[in-house]
Amino acid sequence: MPLNLLHSPELNADYAASLCQQFGLTLTTEINGWHLAWLDDALVLRHSELPKQGDILVDFAGGAASYRRQYGGGKSEAIAKACGLNKKRDLTVLDATAGLGRDAFVLASLGASVTMVERNPAVAALLHDGLRRGKQSAELSWLGERMQLVHSSALDALQQQAAVDVVYLDPMFPPRDKTALVKKEMRAFHDVVGSDTDADALLAPALQLAQKRVVVKRPGYAEFLAATAPTMSVTGKNNRFDVYINAAI
Ligand SMILES: C[S@@+](CC[C@H](N)C(=O)[O-])C[C@H]1O[C@@H](n2cnc3c(N)ncnc32)[C@H](O)[C@@H]1O
Repeated sequence: MPLNLLHSPELNADYAASLCQQFGLTLTTEINGWHLAWLDDALVLRHSELPKQGDILVDFAGGAASYRRQYGGGKSEAIAKACGLNKKRDLTVLDATAGLGRDAFVLASLGASVTMVERNPAVAALLHDGLRRGKQSAELSWLGERMQLVHSSALDALQQQAAVDVVYLDPMFPPRDKTALVKKEMRAFHDVVGSDTDADALLAPALQLAQKRVVVKRPGYAEFLAATAPTMSVTGKNNRFDVYINAAI
């Protein structure tokens, strides 16, 4: 569902028009519920009635992403091992369900060239704006070369994009208990994005496109995507990465 973009005198008119054009947003002066807004030179997602929810944005240069890049497990993180970045740095990756681009950023900061695919217009707009700001950061001089965004459905991208080493999938999965819903981003995602009930259909085209492997991120308790057992699984702190191998890296 496309969202409204709240007009702000600080938001450059040309940039607002290009966001509306690219992501099908409507520029408005009245908002109700979830909407995109402009705050401190950044596009944010917020809810008019839930001030405690806080703003959601993509901030590659900021706190959490930067801390994980500098002090995270690097190549020994489960996601890096699952994708094969512990064996080869400069893999090409299609992240077909990009979300807020956290996983894509981890992979790119380890050396991969990542194409992020996101179908939800509001989430894609947040990613677009996060890339714009990230490219301005002196610390992330590699970002423009290694991360790009395609606003489309994963199925279309898997059929149209050039072959890559790795296809990465992290579709939404229903939370097992309500406590997970208190996490602000998860709540926003469940409201704005909904459930990715069509995710099973992504595995076969992903396996067609990936030269080396397909990696599927799942909660530890979740069944396999498309009820298909992987070649192996790598267990992380909070998730499981199911790896379907086409060829050795
Ligand atoms: C759980 S989030 C991904 C989180 C991401 N891995 C991260 O690190 O931020 C799933 C995202 O995939 C997107 N998505 C799900 N199915 C998709 C599809 N078929 N095509 C494109 N995007 C899809 C959803 O809109 C949502 O933003």
